[in-house]
Amino acid sequence: MDNNKRPDSMARITTKEQADAFIAEQVQQIKAQVGDKKVLLALSGGVDSSVVAALLIKAIGKQLVCVHVNHGLMRKGESEQVIEVFKNQLDANLIYIDATDRFLDLLKGVSEPEKKRKIIGGEFIKVFDEEAKKLEGISFLAQGTIYPDILESDGVKAHHNVGGLPEEMKFELVEPVKLLFKDEVRVVGKALGLPVSMVERQPFPGPGLGVRCLGAITRDRLNALREADAILREEFDKCGLNTKVWQYFIAVPDLKSVGVKDSKRYEGWPAIIRAVNTTDAMSATIEEIPYDVLKRITARITAEVEGINRVLYDLTPKPVGTIEWE
Ligand code: XMP
Repeated sequence: MDNNKRPDSMARITTKEQADAFIAEQVQQIKAQVGDKKVLLALSGGVDSSVVAALLIKAIGKQLVCVHVNHGLMRKGESEQVIEVFKNQLDANLIYIDATDRFLDLLKGVSEPEKKRKIIGGEFIKVFDEEAKKLEGISFLAQGTIYPDILESDGVKAHHNVGGLPEEMKFELVEPVKLLFKDEVRVVGKALGLPVSMVERQPFPGPGLGVRCLGAITRDRLNALREADAILREEFDKCGLNTKVWQYFIAVPDLKSVGVKDSKRYEGWPAIIRAVNTTDAMSATIEEIPYDVLKRITARITAEVEGINRVLYDLTPKPVGTIEWE
């Protein structure tokens, strides 16, 4: 039997009962595969790796070693949430590495998008590899591969993601959700008790805010972006747009314009809102955000975020525009 083919008889997991049955079955399989050995997992905080982590913790507890690399390009509060959920609530064996300085130092002055992506991807592998080498007795590597990754193995994720690991890491793989579609992974994650904000997390590029802080990244502009993005998310939560819009975020270009703040000339960057709906990310439409919500977001970002003096709403569908700006 081809282990990478979803059997035709496999029902789509949509209910808690189906998810519980899947979890029970996987827990048995993982125990049988792993025995008393140790498993390593790169925990990004995304839906797939989080669900795999929770499943493995249920099956083998502290035999799982999770490594979370904070590349300094996460959205506000995301690394903190990984620590809170996995270390504090699930008592996981979690190694947290704040590699912010390493990444931002390497990215200094680099404005070309592909070069930025390569640096972030390459450095991620290096940091993870260094940590893996310090650990003893690891026999398995767990991965959040899902069925669409197998179906489109040369698709977006394969060439984009920072999760790719070095060739010489010769571990046996543990991939408990590899036959599931994304919606099923979310149902399983909820059944495992992960927070909704984690299970319903929007797609997030592996290079993170690095692709939204356009041009050469500076710490002050990256901070401004992160704070403005947090305000956008808060305001969408308040008015229910968070459950309606597929993906929304802020991008900040490397461009300043003149403004006025506290009766003084104030040069700042514009914060660009992107809020799109799509089913497959191949094409996307623009959400019609109510005007009062846009005005509130604008007022808050310009008042609360150091360095931002304008807020723009990107009305461009995909095509012509891509979803991300870089
Ligand atoms: P674009 O900008 O190409 O984005 O319209 C389509 C979708 O892909 C996401 N995206 C990425 N996802 N790693 C990922 O896993 C990446 O490097 C990456 N770049 C873009 C983007 O957020 C959108 O949902």
